[in-house]
Amino acid sequence: MRFLTFENKAALGEALGERIAEEIREKPNLILGLATGSSPLETYGHLAKEVKEGRLSFQKVRSFNLDEYIDCPIEQETYRAFMNDNLFSKVDIDLNNTHFPSSNNPEGYDEEIAAAGGIDFQVLGIGRNGHIGFNEPGTPADSKTSVIHLTQSTIDANARFFGNDKSLVPTKAVSMGLATIMGAKKIALIANDTSKLVPIMGLMKGEKDVLKNPSAVLLDHPDVTIYLTKDLADAIAAKMK
Ligand code: F6R
Repeated sequence: MRFLTFENKAALGEALGERIAEEIREKPNLILGLATGSSPLETYGHLAKEVKEGRLSFQKVRSFNLDEYIDCPIEQETYRAFMNDNLFSKVDIDLNNTHFPSSNNPEGYDEEIAAAGGIDFQVLGIGRNGHIGFNEPGTPADSKTSVIHLTQSTIDANARFFGNDKSLVPTKAVSMGLATIMGAKKIALIANDTSKLVPIMGLMKGEKDVLKNPSAVLLDHPDVTIYLTKDLADAIAAKMK
């Protein structure tokens, strides 16, 4: 596991966006795993800029998002809508090539990913409780795509997208499992907020308790890069002294 530190969110997003752009230039039909939430916004912004300025094309890219809410009361807050707004509408991707897990057939998602040849490059954010995708603490390392129940910590964290009304946050979602994520050939995890201190410090210490910190599963993956902002790296360094 490599750790890279950047001055701020913008610098981090530009670096990771450029890395993904390079991956697509090398393999135009890249299979790209995508995350929603605040963490990848600057990264997606860089990709949109590269496409707008003619240096990149998503025409042959196929994407698989990590997760989707079940019974989301606000259509605009579904992860499909989020991706449309923040990436898909700004690049030349064919929407038929963009995939989300569905509660109708969660296991079918792993089969679809396998049929596409597996994920080449997976983008991850991380929850303050260490979740990746919606794999909350307690999720076993061998989990595949499935329906999950959000913890109160995640409902609280996501209420900001629902006018701070926790009662509107869906309580269930369908998410790639930890084994699904581990199947990706390369993984980049973004941690650009000091609220992520505890799980990232666990990774830096090499603590492999996956049931407590689901992101710890990544310690056993051969190609993971953690993209950190300096404020978070400094806060961790101060705690580890
Ligand atoms: C989103 C996802 C989640 C988020 C995590 C961090 O698709 O799978 O694991 O990456 O909750 O969210 P933000 O980036 O909003 O802090």
